[in-house]
Amino acid sequence: MTSTMIRKLNGLLKTQSLGKVIHYQEEMGSTNTELIELGEKGASEGTVVIADKQTEGKGRLERTWLSPAGSNLYISILFRPEIVASDSTLFTFLASIALKETIERTGVLDTKIKWPNDIHIDGKKVAGVLTEMRSKREMVDFIVLGIGVNINMSRDSINREMGKVARIATSIKENLGKDIDRGKFTADLLLELEKWYQIFSNKGKAPILREWTEKWEDLNKRVRISIEGEQEFEGTALGLDDKGYLLVKTDNGEITKIIAGDVRAI
Ligand code: BTN
Repeated sequence: MTSTMIRKLNGLLKTQSLGKVIHYQEEMGSTNTELIELGEKGASEGTVVIADKQTEGKGRLERTWLSPAGSNLYISILFRPEIVASDSTLFTFLASIALKETIERTGVLDTKIKWPNDIHIDGKKVAGVLTEMRSKREMVDFIVLGIGVNINMSRDSINREMGKVARIATSIKENLGKDIDRGKFTADLLLELEKWYQIFSNKGKAPILREWTEKWEDLNKRVRISIEGEQEFEGTALGLDDKGYLLVKTDNGEITKIIAGDVRAI
């Protein structure tokens, strides 16, 4: 994101609190790491960090999030909800609901949520979410919601920049065949996030888990689960429990709770 786009974002922003303070830098290690530092210094709810390029972008499960300059969105948002630490996983679901809606608003027709929070187009990943949390005793002190979206990368630049993951990555541009405005996309995403955050604050986790499940296409499908260091297995996806863990019924009739791992419909 260039600073011109940040000005555009500021002009378009319709939120009450998210993005009222934006820290922008062309290049950063990781927007999540930066915002955790700000959070520890007392930054207020809604504080946002955006970079045009990350040199140490973090993905889930200790993976790297490749973050080249000039075309994507790398954003982190700070929340200070009064909830128990174990409920912080709900932010991941809240984010994937908001992401799916915002990506579809650009005109992409066929997005799919892959448990717990990747967004796919045509079977390839376009966006991911990394939620990090600091707690005080059993309560949340703050949550940093980190979102990466491949927006205007062409197929050529995906192939050039993304190495091994190029074949499983895509962008909004690859799907639409045209560039979209990153400032407008970010304003829409923050508004959508704020809407779902307000629903969560007023009504709790049930509406979030319900909406996520409605948007999730793998419900009741046969899935294959791979967990690092463990043997793959198959079963039927039953949905989420109240912490957001995935429940899978295996062939011997047992119900297994999946906390982390790769789940794909087969
Ligand atoms: C994943 O799917 O593995 C999650 C990827 C999350 C990437 C975003 S980019 C902005 C924020 N800063 C980071 O270092 N990571 C997240």
